[in-house]
Amino acid sequence: MSEEHFKNVISHSKEYGFVFPSSEIYDGLAAVYDYGQNGVELKKNIREYWWKSMVQLHENIVGLDASIFMAPKVWKASGHVDGFSDPMIDNKDSKKRYRADVLIEDYQEKYRVKNQKEITKARKRFGDDFDEAQFVATNPNIARNNAKIEEIDVKLKEGLETGQLDKVKALIEELGIACPVSGSRNWTDVRQFNLMYSTQMSATDGESQIYLRPETAQGIFVNYLNVQKTGRMRLPFGIAQTGKAFRNEIVARQFIMRMKEFEQMEMQFFVTPGEEKKWYDYWKEHRLKWHTNLGTDASKYRYHDHVKMAHYANAAVDIEYDFPFGFKEVEGIHSRTDFDLKQHEEFTGKKLQYFDNDKNESYVPYVVETSIGLDRMFLVLMCNALQNEDLGEGKSRTVLKLPAALAPYQCAVLPLTKNDGLPDMARKIIKGLSLDFNCYYEEKDSIGKRYRRQDAIGTPICVTVDHDSLTDDSVTIRFRDSMEQKRVKLSDLEDIITKEVSMKELLKGLV
Ligand code: GAP
Repeated sequence: MSEEHFKNVISHSKEYGFVFPSSEIYDGLAAVYDYGQNGVELKKNIREYWWKSMVQLHENIVGLDASIFMAPKVWKASGHVDGFSDPMIDNKDSKKRYRADVLIEDYQEKYRVKNQKEITKARKRFGDDFDEAQFVATNPNIARNNAKIEEIDVKLKEGLETGQLDKVKALIEELGIACPVSGSRNWTDVRQFNLMYSTQMSATDGESQIYLRPETAQGIFVNYLNVQKTGRMRLPFGIAQTGKAFRNEIVARQFIMRMKEFEQMEMQFFVTPGEEKKWYDYWKEHRLKWHTNLGTDASKYRYHDHVKMAHYANAAVDIEYDFPFGFKEVEGIHSRTDFDLKQHEEFTGKKLQYFDNDKNESYVPYVVETSIGLDRMFLVLMCNALQNEDLGEGKSRTVLKLPAALAPYQCAVLPLTKNDGLPDMARKIIKGLSLDFNCYYEEKDSIGKRYRRQDAIGTPICVTVDHDSLTDDSVTIRFRDSMEQKRVKLSDLEDIITKEVSMKELLKGLV
């Protein structure tokens, strides 16, 4: 995938009502976006797929909807007031600001690309006999590249974990990293910038500074005991939540990849201390399965273990997707220990413990978190789905091959003509189908043009009502991906569509 493809994704998203720049008639607001009529449906379906897979399919996970505003002390306790910052560096010539660790990670990526090239070359040379694992283990060029990546990892980790940002700057200089805009190596020092937005809340005793939550997770932690007690939950159990989070991303870029206002889908899984590794491995595997269950090529995903651990984690891994601009994080799985609950105990003076009947003792549970950005997942699906397909004889079509159950509309019902009672019959069909599916009705333009428009918004099935339908109680259904058309009885229509597009069919892949 190329930068060109990414540009197409952005323009397609706008042209077909998926994503618009925020306040566009006022020239927009940097790194803030609105979801249009099709985008909001796709987003809702991704959220539903996540919610059902986490809450509905796990008897020991329940939901929560906590407020965006929280007592300001929450963020002191969580460490966000003091520690939620990014190491930033400015290029003095372009005046552009970068995350210092991202500049270094992008540099490391070049060695990974080199390795991939070696593998591709060798695969061509050895053909069917190629043993990739053995090649990777023995090739001296790959060994050299990996050693370089490792060496950089160690230096970066040392600088970030000890807070010695001069070492991070020294590493940027040592690697000769240049500003992508000016091409110069004229850098400022590396400095930390806090990412939280704050505002004022009035109260009878004056005003206090409060924050817009930078993650949904804290809403779960502060409600841990409420849910545990009222739900009579026993370890291990999880609390899931979706909702908006806000971060003053200084380097906001790449469309909806990095936004100032975005939505998270998070789940905190509370476990007995000592069992966190087992559950970390479980969620690591289960969450990747959630992604590949959508039919995406598994080679487009990879795990990336963290070099810089967040202040609360003792193990962390990203699930990365191969975006047009390279592999980047979509989801994080963090083993957060008892850090958050203990901090809230300390700051409130209240016990947040669990009484373990089997052990006959109380303790603060450990937590394994899964955290995915809904907007980033939206971008994964758009990048993966958008295709320009060559149909031969100089013809082509633009098609959005979204997972059928997540598409904005599951089916379109199209009367072949605007008269002879065909629209009435089409509307009658929609009336029945729309109890289960989001259906699109359209009667304008030729049927070919209407099929193309449905392809472009990802509708998996078109149902065409023609003159024969009036007498034979049959319709033509046309499949988005194969473009195959077949005649089916009206009485079979609902079953056929259900099999192709229902969320239930998708969820079956996870049980
Ligand atoms: N509670 C843990 C936490 O918030 P994170 O890695 O900072 O962890 C989790 O964020 C996920 O939220 C990321 O994997 C990413 O998908 C999404 N995310 C984070 N910052 C974002 C931003 N500025 N814009 C869009 N999505 C973002």
